[in-house]
Amino acid sequence: MSRIEAEVGKPQGGIMQWIDERFPWTETMKYHITEYYAAKNFNFWYVFGVLAMLVLVIQLVTGIFLTMNYKPSALDAFASVEYIMRDVEWGWLIRYMHSTGASFFFIVVYLHMFRAMLYGSYKKPRELVWLIGMIIFFVLMAEAFAGYLLPWGQMSYWGAQVIISLFGAIPGIGEAIVELIRGDYSISDITLNRFFALHVVVLPLALISLVLVHIVALHQVGSLNPDGIEIKEQKGPDGIPLDGIAFHPYYTTKDLVAIIIFMMAFSGVMFFAPDMGGYFLEHANYEPANLTATPEHISPVWYFTPFYAILRAVPDKLWGATMMAVAVILPVFLPWLDRSRVKSIRYRGWIYKFALTCFAISFVVLGWLGTKPPDTLYTIAARIFSAVYFAFFLLMPYYTTIDKTKPVPDRVVYHG
Ligand code: HEM
Repeated sequence: MSRIEAEVGKPQGGIMQWIDERFPWTETMKYHITEYYAAKNFNFWYVFGVLAMLVLVIQLVTGIFLTMNYKPSALDAFASVEYIMRDVEWGWLIRYMHSTGASFFFIVVYLHMFRAMLYGSYKKPRELVWLIGMIIFFVLMAEAFAGYLLPWGQMSYWGAQVIISLFGAIPGIGEAIVELIRGDYSISDITLNRFFALHVVVLPLALISLVLVHIVALHQVGSLNPDGIEIKEQKGPDGIPLDGIAFHPYYTTKDLVAIIIFMMAFSGVMFFAPDMGGYFLEHANYEPANLTATPEHISPVWYFTPFYAILRAVPDKLWGATMMAVAVILPVFLPWLDRSRVKSIRYRGWIYKFALTCFAISFVVLGWLGTKPPDTLYTIAARIFSAVYFAFFLLMPYYTTIDKTKPVPDRVVYHG
């Protein structure tokens, strides 16, 4: 252990000692930060967990300030958002931070999940880290969906109308579920109030708690790395993994670089293109909700469009909704669908590399198709790419078994 690490982890005496005798502060800091050993070869893909935490904090802080001026009522909601944008001091900045944050949250989380697919992070012993991550993902989707109704614009209203009505396709109990979600016979002030309660209290609390559990589960088994090697299997006489370095100061410093670059990209969007050509803030949402006229073309925000494209690719409403739900849920089973003995893509054969590339392409193309009107050609394309999406998961037990893997080294490979 270096001198710096030893000093950072040492109980300080005085006030620190007083606290430590009553609360395991230094012990917790050591376990999770100063004596948490992660592989020395983390690359670009390993910054997105920390960035997701950063965006969560941005959303919580800006959300609190928005709530101070927002009015959760069908009569006032749209006007209160305009008031925030024009009259509240720095209101425009806070609102744009929050709306940009929503899209960046999904960019960061999708890349974070893709990293796990690249390096097999979901495989034993990290199944629980992955499962908790999937629950976070579902809660995040619910959080974004509830938040999108709040400005009470045209797309808020009609987007919610389309998605909530999907539950109506469930035989027997469908209509009862729809009424339960809406709290009324149509989307109304009552719906807005309950979505507000979910968006500002229930779901953020769930997210914070789940992220804590996610980290505790991860630190129980330790982080994986781009080589997919368990560093705990090669320890030195001091009990520290030979390829491990302390999270602080090494990764806190490295993550800081990622945070600065990320904030530059974030600011670029926030200051120069906050609606991102209608992808981050949809144009139809600049008009207040009109219950008597649908927008010309209803589509959700970009982060839901891959799943929306799958929904529309199926002609039947119930089957479309089912396929969409299955598409969202399928990644839950990755730890058991993937039968490869090797974790990292570096040591897998060409079949997995090909399959993962096809999956990534299908996800991006479906996302694009979901923003387009449902014309014949687009629908045919959506069917083809939906088939690729499902094939990636459903054929996985087969192709990961026959794929020829390469020998995995004992120690991590570090490209300095
Ligand atoms: C609010 C959202 C999330 C936050 C704040 C978060 C945070 C983190 C952090 C800080 C790490 C450790 C650093 C890293 O490996 O990048 C991590 C690791 C991990 N996360 Fe997440 N995460 C989130 C969502 C998710 C989701 C949606 C999934 C997948 C379904 C997921 C799966 C994983 C896995 C498998 C690891 C272990 C990676 C490894 O050791 O190779 N996380 N997460």
